[in-house]
Amino acid sequence: MSPTGTLRLFFALWPEESLQRSLATAVREALGQDPPGQPMPVRNLHVTLAFLGSVPEERVQALRAAAAPAARAAAPPLTLEFRQLRFWRRAQLVCASPAPCAGADSLAQSLRQCLHAAGFSPDEKPFRPHVTLARRAELAPARSEFAPVTWSFSAFALVRSRTEPTGSVYSVLDSWTLCGQ
Ligand code: 2AM
Repeated sequence: MSPTGTLRLFFALWPEESLQRSLATAVREALGQDPPGQPMPVRNLHVTLAFLGSVPEERVQALRAAAAPAARAAAPPLTLEFRQLRFWRRAQLVCASPAPCAGADSLAQSLRQCLHAAGFSPDEKPFRPHVTLARRAELAPARSEFAPVTWSFSAFALVRSRTEPTGSVYSVLDSWTLCGQ
């Protein structure tokens, strides 16, 4: 549970429901008849850009202000093409990886720079864009390729994560339209 007065937050490319469903449908066969690990609910599918963890409530306004310049610099649309499943053994995670997307890389980088400049400490792991499909996986999925799915974004989001008895519940708190100025 989060310490009192803090929110567990991250920035993400958050797809519409129809896009979440189209990816879930496309990967079904490749995951196999006995899919590895614990599946993520379809409504949770997203691409994390920067993970913050616990942020004091009184800092959330400053966090919002810090994110805005990153949206002004990024040109829409950001298009992610998925056709690859990956198994990250150490993380016990099955994910969909997009083809390289320079726009997403530079958005993640500039967002992280903006956050640092404002005194926040996003997770330092290098940005590896992915959509987590299953956790606690011990085996690779049946196949590593699936019919391509395209996710297009013209905005990014600030997302809250809460841990409920049923699992993680994510809610979008705010979003920023990419302007490409
Ligand atoms: P993951 O799916 O690869 O674990 C909410 O937890 C989101 O933030 C998930 O997309 C998760 O990625 C990502 N994330 C990145 N760094 C994290 C960290 N240190 N702890 C928890 N989640 C992290």
